[in-house]
Amino acid sequence: MAYEDKSPAHGNLPQCGAPSQSRAMNSSANTEKAPLRHRRAKFDFAEVPTYWNGGDAFITRFLDALSINFPEGERFFIESVLAFESQVTDPKLREEMRLFARQEGQHGAAHSLYNKLLASQGVNVERILKVLVGHKRATQRDLSPKLQLALTAAAEHLTATLAEGFLSVAPFIGDAAHPEMRALYLWHSVEEVEHKAVAFDVYQRFAGGDYWLRVRAMLMITAYLHLRVAAIMRHMFEVDGLKDRRAVVRRGLWRMYGPRGYLTRMLPSYLAWFKPSFHPWDTGMPREVAAWIAEYEQHQDPRRATEAVHAQRLRAA
Ligand SMILES: [Fe+2]
Ligand SMILES: [Fe+2]
Repeated sequence: MAYEDKSPAHGNLPQCGAPSQSRAMNSSANTEKAPLRHRRAKFDFAEVPTYWNGGDAFITRFLDALSINFPEGERFFIESVLAFESQVTDPKLREEMRLFARQEGQHGAAHSLYNKLLASQGVNVERILKVLVGHKRATQRDLSPKLQLALTAAAEHLTATLAEGFLSVAPFIGDAAHPEMRALYLWHSVEEVEHKAVAFDVYQRFAGGDYWLRVRAMLMITAYLHLRVAAIMRHMFEVDGLKDRRAVVRRGLWRMYGPRGYLTRMLPSYLAWFKPSFHPWDTGMPREVAAWIAEYEQHQDPRRATEAVHAQRLRAA
């Protein structure tokens, strides 16, 4: 079970222009916007165990449940952004839209392979995706293109918040996690940070940028994701035949939403969305993202870049 993107890593795309490795590794903060780029990615999930995050059932299945939605969700994001292509007159933003679509397309392909792994564990991926496709069709049929774009911009803020959280706030993915999965999530996280403002900029600059509509979109997507992830996790725990399920869920919710919970610690970033003056680059770029990009530049291997940054984090801990 392996996935490799065979399209050219550089082609005629703009070069990264990321900070040098020493600068990236040593700086305590980096507020520069990362230029978007397309990267090769190769993953092999054949040896990944069911509870790949060091045996942590709750966090593993939380991430699995999120991931299962990515391929179809990211198709929706691409479509909702490209629906405004003809209205975007800024060539730089048009190029970013193209690279955004390329990055999301590649994420979708990698997570589709991950879905095959979940199916091999007995998870009813087919049924879950059928429901999701139904939701996507209804959304595209019933909601305006502008609200669809606002939903995408809101979802991109959620994924960037999680991505920045993975890398610098609350390391969901522990030291004992399977390295292939850590590489998948860190590669995906880095690119989510890189393109975190694309949908937002299209919305603000070329779709009217209605504040209350984007507030509504965030409330909708937050509620939807909570309900959806909870339902998928429940199914996964049933499939797993997990013992002491109630205790696992109770402890898991405390670790997520307790006073020092992973998601609680990301709350300030999440809530920033509701400031009228919000822009995704207000939070800059975590130095771990700059370090990952600089390391990747040395060899174009997301797994090696991930392990280098992970080792750096362990030394700093
Ligand atoms: Fe993505
Ligand atoms: Fe994204």
